[in-house]
Amino acid sequence: MATAAEAHAMRRAVALAARGLGHTSPNPVVGCVILDAGGRVAGEGWHQRAGGPHAEVHALHAAGERARGGTALVTLEPCDHTGRTGPCSQALISAGVARVRYAVADPTAQARGGAATLAAAGIEVAAGLLAQEAEAVNEPWLTAMRRGRPFVLWKYAATLDGRSAAADGTSRWITSPASRADVHRLRAEADAVVVGSGTLRADDPHLAVRGREGVTQPLRVVLDTRATVKPGARVLDDAAPTLIAVAEDADTAHLRRLPGVRTVRLPRAGTGLQIPALLAELHGRGVRSVLLEGGPTLAGAFLAAGAVDKVVGYLAPVLLGAGPAALADAGITTITQALRLETTDVTRLGPDLRVTATPTAPAPLAEEN
Ligand SMILES: NC(=O)c1ccc[n+]([C@@H]2O[C@H](COP(=O)([O-])OP(=O)(O)OC[C@H]3O[C@@H](n4cnc5c(N)ncnc54)[C@H](OP(=O)(O)O)[C@@H]3O)[C@@H](O)[C@H]2O)c1
Repeated sequence: MATAAEAHAMRRAVALAARGLGHTSPNPVVGCVILDAGGRVAGEGWHQRAGGPHAEVHALHAAGERARGGTALVTLEPCDHTGRTGPCSQALISAGVARVRYAVADPTAQARGGAATLAAAGIEVAAGLLAQEAEAVNEPWLTAMRRGRPFVLWKYAATLDGRSAAADGTSRWITSPASRADVHRLRAEADAVVVGSGTLRADDPHLAVRGREGVTQPLRVVLDTRATVKPGARVLDDAAPTLIAVAEDADTAHLRRLPGVRTVRLPRAGTGLQIPALLAELHGRGVRSVLLEGGPTLAGAFLAAGAVDKVVGYLAPVLLGAGPAALADAGITTITQALRLETTDVTRLGPDLRVTATPTAPAPLAEEN
């Protein structure tokens, strides 16, 4: 049984882990608190950026000699491998901690085994404390590791009658400034923001994070089969890196000399590009979380490919009566095929409602697509 001090410290470790969101990919977010032998907080830390020290190393450094005989609370099983930094299992052993409690096991073949190494060194090891909370903060990374493709969060804004734009294609702004600011939070936590060429042409979106300090800008990704994006498009500026996904036969000469802009050639699927191929490409580039920002056609293709892990809908108390629906064809033709979701959160943002939901049946694994 964990003590109250240990449970409190693990809750703090989860909060510390969250500070790394948006900065650590391809690594997970991790938080760590060290309690001294008397159960008092001796040090804390979190993984701040890929390539930098792991959470345990920061916390051990802060704790110094007070770690000896103490307890380490870590949100993820300490790693057992030498990557850009040394194994955390060895750092904990060298510091002389007596106990390690971690919340979630490391699912990767490369890093797992830390618990066994610690136990073999005579350290008391226990797993599972506040596992749900620790899973939640690391949901994108854990999903990416388990599925072998980035975690995909589909975000949309709609009127109360479910429309994502007016009949003439205009959609600025359906939702309130509070909802739009919240979208910038989602962008800041994502490794990549993805839109289709329809949205590119209709809205000329910028897709970078604005109004937040110290963010790592996400990769801006446009699915643009025929490379129709024109120099001067806002998504091509230098505010963040950009990847234009095009078909194998697309002419990309006009994009060659733009700094920070890359193109990738993907196989076609129907009228567009293959979604699993896009996700595999992004995964290979270290992207672990994708914010899919639409539009309705591309969202339908992602859903049809079983590639949406979470949905965040911003519903505004606005009626349009005509105009495209928030979601276009997702390959569902009869009510028995309807994609059922579980609502996990409903929050008021100014006049709007933010509804968060996850598919009740998990999306198939990448190799099944
Ligand atoms: N309210 C919201 O949350 C929101 C968000 C975004 C957009 N919008 C609105 O939605 C409208 C644009 O949406 P849209 O549905 O026309 O376009 P879209 O979903 O942004 O883009 C669709 C286009 O993406 C390209 N594409 C590439 N691979 C694809 C694939 N596998 N599946 C589907 N498409 C693929 C296709 O064009 P190519 O083959 O030519 O590349 C396709 O026509 C605008 O009115 C915009 O204002 C609203």
